[in-house]
Amino acid sequence: MQDRTQDKKKLIAGNWKMNGGIEANDALVRAIVTGLRGASCLAAVCVPAPYLAQVQVLRQGSTLELGAQDVSAHAQGAYTGEVSARMLKDFGARYAIVGHSERRQYHGEGDALVADKAKAALAAGITPIVCVGETLTEREAGRTEEVVKRQLAAVIHTNGHCISEIAVAYEPVWAIGSGKTATPEMAQQVHAVLRAQLKAATAHSARVNILYGGSMNAGNAATLLAQPDIDGGLIGGASLNAADFLQIIVAASHAVA
Ligand code: 13P
Repeated sequence: MQDRTQDKKKLIAGNWKMNGGIEANDALVRAIVTGLRGASCLAAVCVPAPYLAQVQVLRQGSTLELGAQDVSAHAQGAYTGEVSARMLKDFGARYAIVGHSERRQYHGEGDALVADKAKAALAAGITPIVCVGETLTEREAGRTEEVVKRQLAAVIHTNGHCISEIAVAYEPVWAIGSGKTATPEMAQQVHAVLRAQLKAATAHSARVNILYGGSMNAGNAATLLAQPDIDGGLIGGASLNAADFLQIIVAASHAVA
């Protein structure tokens, strides 16, 4: 297969988390769709599952892609409350976040489950955005590399050669929603580790977008996105404001891939 390094576009994905409402979504997505014209990066919004249908309609005719924030590891059956990858696909989802630190922390999701979720997404033709990242305690103990490598290794182990079809998001837990961003150098250092790990796992590692997430905003996006191994962003708070989100998209469109 051809190496797509040269034409790989950066990906800016918004993670709305548990925010939104029918009216607010309408205004936000309309503004993003309008502002997105001419952007040369990939852009997506990962919305709460009940709003997939609404945003699917709002994004029609636009390059804005749709994503979910989680997916079941199971294909179907007696799993009350779960949403399968095929259901997400029914609503036009192209991406599903898996292993976000908030799910690892508040819902007890471990590496093996996250790997199975990634597998379920891939089986339905959905790109899993696999989140990895260390806590502050782990960073201070010098364990950052060990932690992110362990988290990614589980996904590589379960998904084999399909690993080139995932996206990865490095989200240092201490930088999420805290206003504390990893410096571009700190982020690049971890991204390079993840890139090397992917490279060892697949000949097509270059096609994997490795996103940075954690207080990325309109002000700091350009310098983060200028790093050689930062292929985009997973944006929380700033994705709820159309002007801020669009400014990050502009930064990604101008950054050298
Ligand atoms: P913030 O951008 O609000 O820090 O959130 C990052 C995040 O968790 C995206 O998934």
